[in-house]
Amino acid sequence: MKIICANWKFNQKLRKEKEALNFLLNLEKKLKKIKNVEVKIFAHFSVMKALSKKSKKVKIGAQDLHWEEDGAFTGATISARELFSMGIKEVLVGHSETRFYFGVDNKKVALKFQRAIENGLSPMVCIGETLEEKEEGKTEEVLRKQIEEGILSVLKELHFPKNSFSIAYEPIYAISGFAKMEGKTPRPAELKDIEFAHKFIKEIFLQENYPVKVLYGGSCNPENASEFLSKDFIDGLLVGSASFDFDSFFNIIKLTSQF
Ligand code: PGA
Repeated sequence: MKIICANWKFNQKLRKEKEALNFLLNLEKKLKKIKNVEVKIFAHFSVMKALSKKSKKVKIGAQDLHWEEDGAFTGATISARELFSMGIKEVLVGHSETRFYFGVDNKKVALKFQRAIENGLSPMVCIGETLEEKEEGKTEEVLRKQIEEGILSVLKELHFPKNSFSIAYEPIYAISGFAKMEGKTPRPAELKDIEFAHKFIKEIFLQENYPVKVLYGGSCNPENASEFLSKDFIDGLLVGSASFDFDSFFNIIKLTSQF
């Protein structure tokens, strides 16, 4: 079963409780007719609790967490235990926007990853290279480092079911927000590059005896989603800007149910 995730980022409209709940309730209603798709929404903290109370089929997740439970951490987001107590079981870790804007490095990814797992959450760790790194032939090196430092460094000490985390491969150059920031038209990565990265990532985890699901993210929309969904090596999609609009997100879910 493929996994389709919305990443609502800091979208202003979807930080309004009424709008966010309308979206969710509408989705829950329409999902009754949809089979074979797992749907998650990574919402902003301000609406997460309200969504979590009303969600049935849709899994509500957080976009980040802080690794400590208490202390002098002004501006920290939210702790793993707090998320769990709100009924939130999913969390994004190391999204490239948190890496870029808030200085989350691989070490912090490892701390967040560890705390999430220890507190019963399923982290979805986001990794991906920049265009420059890709052009310099450093994709493998960058991905391996992100995985080794951000996940494998703590994985062996953790005791948990083997499927309790996943990876989102999101090459930075394909993420719409970064493309727009550079004045470029957002475009997903090429399928051959996604295939290479997904197989490379899966292989690293298989060698460690941890089979993981790998989702693709970066400028996915209803027009290009089928190309990705038809491929076995893509276990699902992490959809950013195209998930802000109900019809566009639901169209991707409908397409997914055909595969
Ligand atoms: P995008 O974002 O779909 O707008 O490119 C994806 C993401 O950042 O998760």
